[in-house]
Amino acid sequence: MSVHKDVKKVTTHTLQSMKQNGEKISMLTAYDFSMARILDDAGIDVLLVGDSASNVMAGHETTLPITLDQMIYHAQSVVRAVDRCLVIVDLPFGSYQGNSKEALNSAIRIMKEAGAHGIKLEGGIEVVESIKRIISAGVPVMGHLGLTPQSIYKFGTYAVRAREDEEAEMLINNAHALEEAGCFSIVLEKIPAALGKRVANELKIPLIGIGAGGGVDGQVLVMHDLLGINKDFSPRFLRRYLNLYDEIKAATGRYIQDVKSKDFPNENEQY
Ligand code: KIV
Repeated sequence: MSVHKDVKKVTTHTLQSMKQNGEKISMLTAYDFSMARILDDAGIDVLLVGDSASNVMAGHETTLPITLDQMIYHAQSVVRAVDRCLVIVDLPFGSYQGNSKEALNSAIRIMKEAGAHGIKLEGGIEVVESIKRIISAGVPVMGHLGLTPQSIYKFGTYAVRAREDEEAEMLINNAHALEEAGCFSIVLEKIPAALGKRVANELKIPLIGIGAGGGVDGQVLVMHDLLGINKDFSPRFLRRYLNLYDEIKAATGRYIQDVKSKDFPNENEQY
């Protein structure tokens, strides 16, 4: 049983209060039941069923191929696992850019079929109409600005965004537009720390950073990166807390050896 069964659930209002009280928000990605259970039990505030599942779960080079059905499958597994944290689910590429009705339908599917607590989508002023329509149906929306991986072929690179004044101004305007449209929070990805701090100071809603410095209201990382399951991904913003790739590989090696040497199973490990 989770230690958080009796603990008050995290809501979008909790996050707002945390910002007001100066308490930083912790957020991680999750895609499956077992891992989501551990992260919720550890006390994480928000779990994001990110479309990074396309990379870390399915092995695609980008986030573009993952489908709405696949996102719903991951989200169902995560929602089943959690007692306390807020579960937000990414609208995948192609499920909301067409028009606001399509965006609303996708958001409703995620809420209805997965039991999620809200959705996240990428973009600024161009997605405001969709955001308003989704919120008008009672669905909380988290925005995502800065490096937006669904637009990787437009950017051409995963480099830091908004280093130049013009792009920084555009990001600030987009952040205000998302707040005015009703977003309860915004993820800022891979932008200069000073810009992250400025946006967090200007907006009332919580800003969650990934590579956006310490001046924002919370931090998010991809769980596989934090646990060191990915060996090849080492951006400057990442702090690795484990080296699970090597640990899992070594444990698997020991298991193989025990099977080959007939050490496993021993007398006590059989009926
Ligand atoms: O899909 C994802 O994992 C994300 C985070 C990087 C914020 O959007």
